[in-house]
Amino acid sequence: MPRFDVTIAGELNLDLILYGLPEQLEPERELLADRMMLTLGSSSAIVAHNLAVLGSRVGFQSRIGDDPLGRISLERLQESGVDVSKVRIIPGATTTGLTVILHHEQWRNILTYAGTIAELTWDDLDLDYLADSRHFHFSSYYLQKALRPRVAELFRYLKFKGLTISLDTNDDPEDRWEGGLHELFRHVDVFLPNEREACKAAGTENLEEAISRLAKLVPLVVVKLGRKGALAQQGTERFTAASKEVVPVDSVGAGDSFDAGFLHAYLGGNDLAKCLASGNTAGALSTTRPGGTEAFRDGEHRKTFLGR
Ligand SMILES: Nc1ncnc2c1ncn2[C@@H]1O[C@H](COP(=O)(O)OP(=O)(O)O)[C@@H](O)[C@H]1O
Ligand SMILES: [Mg+2]
Repeated sequence: MPRFDVTIAGELNLDLILYGLPEQLEPERELLADRMMLTLGSSSAIVAHNLAVLGSRVGFQSRIGDDPLGRISLERLQESGVDVSKVRIIPGATTTGLTVILHHEQWRNILTYAGTIAELTWDDLDLDYLADSRHFHFSSYYLQKALRPRVAELFRYLKFKGLTISLDTNDDPEDRWEGGLHELFRHVDVFLPNEREACKAAGTENLEEAISRLAKLVPLVVVKLGRKGALAQQGTERFTAASKEVVPVDSVGAGDSFDAGFLHAYLGGNDLAKCLASGNTAGALSTTRPGGTEAFRDGEHRKTFLGR
């Protein structure tokens, strides 16, 4: 039996979230936030953290700087039970990345300093470690600049080793949606975009057309629909699931938490209706506290919400 249920190679950094800023950010003015939260960020790390909290065995590879923000993010990830023995701490000019999120009522600014995120390379990876798993998940394709040219090769290798593979590209900051995405799809079992990303990846503004195109390339396409829930397309078969009713604090990391909930159920051998429900529950749970992992860290709150 493999050592892990899921291995992940990706970014590890913190999110700094500011709440209660004025809607208009006037230049040169000092503007006050009324609340802040420094919390584990980055799609890859949030998925790993929340998968481990849900009970999956998770191995994580990454590269961070030898700096305070890197150390805090590593501690946070380790507390969840993720194996972090293969996270490399690299002293040097590049520090650990950071995302600053300005939270507004209806929208948010997401400002990322990539730092070491963009410097994770093929040579940082321990392929035997990554392959000692049932499943491999990859997030933030467009932020991982140094690794990106070899991600298809990595997927091909891990498929050959018998793993299933899921991909959540997240947004492309350059909004070009290139870089061999379709080549990647050949090795992907589960693609997990949100609505916008599904359209961008398929090259159409029509969601139904996007799903139909993507379903021809990937066996299972799961589209996250925010407060509308999620849908899964498996060939010509469609499954939908409504979201859970919550009073959200923010939706930072909701998509990553959805990925964790979905994959945990998927690897538990559940049917797609159950996997979608598990994703929606995890996504909704994430929105009840700041950031992507705070609701999962609070054991009492989590157990009450999950009903166990
Ligand atoms: N306001 C909300 N109420 C309930 N569930 C939500 C809400 N926002 C997000 N979710 C859950 O989180 C999932 C992911 O959110 P979404 O915003 O679609 O992804 P992303 O963060 O990748 O953009 C949704 O599919 C849903 O299950
Ligand atoms: Mg997302």
